[in-house]
Amino acid sequence: MDELTGLIPEKKPNHIAIIMDGNGRWAKNRGLPRLSGHRAGTENLRRTIRAFVEFGIPYLTIYAFSTENWERPSDEVEGLMHILEEVLDSELAELHQEGVRLKHIGRLERLEKGLREKVQQSVELTENNKRLTLCIAWNYGGRDEINCAIKQIIKDGVSPDDVTDKLVSSYLFTAGIPDPDLIIRTSGEMRISNFLIWQSSYAEWYVTPTLWPDFDREELLKALISYSNRDRRYGKISVCGEDVEKNAQ
Ligand code: IPE
Ligand code: IPE
Ligand code: MG
Repeated sequence: MDELTGLIPEKKPNHIAIIMDGNGRWAKNRGLPRLSGHRAGTENLRRTIRAFVEFGIPYLTIYAFSTENWERPSDEVEGLMHILEEVLDSELAELHQEGVRLKHIGRLERLEKGLREKVQQSVELTENNKRLTLCIAWNYGGRDEINCAIKQIIKDGVSPDDVTDKLVSSYLFTAGIPDPDLIIRTSGEMRISNFLIWQSSYAEWYVTPTLWPDFDREELLKALISYSNRDRRYGKISVCGEDVEKNAQ
């Protein structure tokens, strides 16, 4: 039992993916422009990363910009790109020092050259860090990811007989990253919004009405406690061997 959190280590997720939703509503509730909500959301990300390090959760994926988010007004899109650039400028050194390994999932081609290079350099700088892997889903879409994987599988001349779950996973942007155990969505929407559609096949879901900028350490702890009470059966009868044997009789 973790003294600080009361969590049982074996019941702790290895990988949490978060759909950080509700920045716009958070700003609207305060009569502020949407970008203020995105800034508040970014501040909250900093606190969240700290909590992940504290709780010893080794993988965090954040959904920060989807392939559909390009369809928002151009000033919001530009503002979001600018925020990513600012965050990399101001936070990279500290993240690196704290042992955070940055990964990017999605497609960088559509980003401006300067931003694209900054993302690539951040990934390279931190590639050997071990404490926390932070995957930033930026210009990410689950369908786009699967399309890219299929194209590459065909280009590589893979035989149909060799197409397995493992092979497909190895062609995704998330290759080498374990599937998420828990997906948290803030702000109450009950939908996947094109996020990790392949990888989430057996992920547990936790949806909270709390808007992303207000999702704090206590909220994360609540999600972890909820997760620790789930019985992940993966289509079987029970994860507990005893029950399986009893039911099989
Ligand atoms: C999530 O907050 C951040 C991004 C999608 C970039 P939203 O901007 O979607 O906030 P709401 O859903 O409008 O409140
Ligand atoms: C999902 O949120 C994408 C991110 C959090 C980056 P959206 O706000 O874009 O999703 P919908 O439109 O409510 O489905
Ligand atoms: Mg939203």
